[in-house]
Amino acid sequence: MSGFFLTIEGCEGAGKSTAVNLIKEWMSEKGIEFTETREPGGTRVAEDIRSLLLSHHGEALSDTTELLLMFAARSQNLFHNIEPGMTAGKVVICDRFTDATYAYQGGGRGLDQQQISTLENLVQGSRRPDMTILMDVDPEVGMARARGRGELDRIEQEKMDFFERVREEYLNRSKVFSEQYEVIHAGGSLDNVKQQILSVLDRRLASRIKGRI
Ligand SMILES: Nc1ncnc2c1ncn2[C@@H]1O[C@H](COP(=O)(O)OP(=O)(O)OP(=O)(O)O)[C@@H](O)[C@H]1O
Ligand SMILES: [Mg+2]
Repeated sequence: MSGFFLTIEGCEGAGKSTAVNLIKEWMSEKGIEFTETREPGGTRVAEDIRSLLLSHHGEALSDTTELLLMFAARSQNLFHNIEPGMTAGKVVICDRFTDATYAYQGGGRGLDQQQISTLENLVQGSRRPDMTILMDVDPEVGMARARGRGELDRIEQEKMDFFERVREEYLNRSKVFSEQYEVIHAGGSLDNVKQQILSVLDRRLASRIKGRI
């Protein structure tokens, strides 16, 4: 038993939380043991770092501060949730992970991907997602959905071209790491999106977690 690390990615309002809920239902029906977490966050300290990252301050966060806080929160999440879940042979479902750092701090902010990779190795060792479900949607559509839920946080207040770059980097990674990624066309109706996710779970996840959990 080595566990299975499943991450869900995508821009704001793409439907990540909706996907996580569907995945949890699917796993419960199949009697698969799972644990759920999110980034940035997932532990008390990491959730505090999340509010530092997402709330509005009297001072700007430098891009490097943002990057380091993301990885500091990740280190806590790995230590308290992800690694113990994997050791226990569970499916660990994580709402965003390091692919989001490549997309937002790399693609969006323009930070050097090589430096992100250095931090990834430092913080994670060899830990990488076993599968990533990318909820891909036009950022305008996603943002309209996110807006419907209330006030926008610090990162959500970026301009649309920022989110275009984020999306582009996610799609780029989905091609480079095609074995890891499953891309869901998340712009369709809720029913259509759910069907796509269920098909991925039945077609790919079911066989890949066999023997792992
Ligand atoms: N395919 C869809 N069509 C229409 N509405 C949707 C669809 N998917 C999700 N929604 C709705 O859009 C909103 C955002 O969805 P959700 O919270 O799942 O996105 P998210 O990616 O988790 O957002 P965030 O980045 O803010 O965490 C919710 O109100 C949800 O019900
Ligand atoms: Mg969400």
